[in-house]
Amino acid sequence: MWAKMVSDLHLSRDPALGLRAGLEQSLRAAVRSGQLRPGTRLPSSRVLAGDLGVARNTVADVYTQLVAEGYLIGARGSGTRVAAYADRSNAVRAETTTSPGAATARFDLRPGRPDLSSFPQAAWLRALRTVLVADVAPALGYGDPRGPLLARTALAGYLARVRGVLADPQLVVLCAGYRQAVALLARACSAEGRRTVAVESPGLPEVPEMFRRAGLAAVGLPVDDEGAQIGRLAATGADTIALTPAHQFPTGVPLSPARRAALVDWAHRADGIVLEDDYDGEFRYDRQPIGAVQGLAPGHVVYAGSASKTLAPGLRLGWLVVPPRLLEPIVEEKRLADRHSSTLDHLALAHLISSGDYDRHIRRMRASYRRRRDELGAALTPVRPRLGASGFRAGLHVLVPLASPATETEVLSHLERHEIITNGLSRYAPGDQRAGLVVGYATPPQHLWRPALAAFANALHDGS
Ligand SMILES: Cc1ncc(COP(=O)(O)O)c(C=O)c1O
Repeated sequence: MWAKMVSDLHLSRDPALGLRAGLEQSLRAAVRSGQLRPGTRLPSSRVLAGDLGVARNTVADVYTQLVAEGYLIGARGSGTRVAAYADRSNAVRAETTTSPGAATARFDLRPGRPDLSSFPQAAWLRALRTVLVADVAPALGYGDPRGPLLARTALAGYLARVRGVLADPQLVVLCAGYRQAVALLARACSAEGRRTVAVESPGLPEVPEMFRRAGLAAVGLPVDDEGAQIGRLAATGADTIALTPAHQFPTGVPLSPARRAALVDWAHRADGIVLEDDYDGEFRYDRQPIGAVQGLAPGHVVYAGSASKTLAPGLRLGWLVVPPRLLEPIVEEKRLADRHSSTLDHLALAHLISSGDYDRHIRRMRASYRRRRDELGAALTPVRPRLGASGFRAGLHVLVPLASPATETEVLSHLERHEIITNGLSRYAPGDQRAGLVVGYATPPQHLWRPALAAFANALHDGS
């Protein structure tokens, strides 16, 4: 093993691999480990070849190969740069300290994340600039815990138009994503004397956890191919329910019309509170979006949405539309939690909506995700009849069922060996015997989607 400083680049190469393969391998390792950060400009092939004492063509070939693999980006005139890969692998490493092996994953196929390389940077910048050059002083002080009226009004109009939500701007509370929405509602429910929440099983594990922390008991409601089994709700004794009616997470099925009706009926009869998580309602491919349940029972349903799928989770932008009787307790919880969320971001979102940029971005992303979904479906076709993958009609992920939790562990490890990280179904229903892969297809940036898909298809065929 030898090491050499090249310009500002320190590379360790394994001489056993030969010049070309050794250079390729050491550059890959440097990108993966984060030693070379995204955007870093590499020395020209002439300079690097000179420093290493190899032929210029050798370096040029290596650069070409790594561009094709998605590690580097080669742009005429601006040289060769490190692609966004390293950023993601670092993010994966930081986020999955509890998930061993994840650090080496090159392809991120976990659910719940949009394609961040397609974030509408120019439109967001325009929106922020508009906010900042307007009369910005009021936006810089403390404000209404619900967020600025302008933003609540823009959002209420959008939700009514696109999701059929009955949204009075006075009843909209802007907050830091769905996670905070749940925490606020859980505490408000507790203050109201509510005792038991029913949650979908499988479902997002943080939801029962947050209700428990607020002092409620949480009971699991099984999910089948019509969504959560609402017929079992009365027997659980729950006075509150949290669910994902438009697109059950993670199985991908919508709540059937009969169960929607039964849910509304239960809410009226039991004076129940329904938390409707509408996390990806905009991304429906085969039919018109399924409208929000909130429109059917606005006095009982707390509608929750988020910009985490439409824009980016890092913005921490979410919203609640609450029944009038819950407004005061929820606003009080928000005030105590953090006074209010970032006003500038709220106003930027309002501008994005009213300028039409938000709709345009969503339409563009829907088309892009639909293409990815079709390609994933085609790649899975040879194994799909056996595996019975589902959830293709909407959202940003599909479910590939597996025989048992033991098979799930095996398949996840097999994928990791192919540098792919995805989530197992069992993490969403601990103790359940259901097993599978919850495969997100939105996360890889554009330039890595095809390589990620090819790696996934190879790994599945290989392992089947
Ligand atoms: C089921 C579900 N609901 C909501 C969200 C959005 O959460 P947040 O707004 O806190 O980012 C996610 C994202 O992971 C999700 O998977």
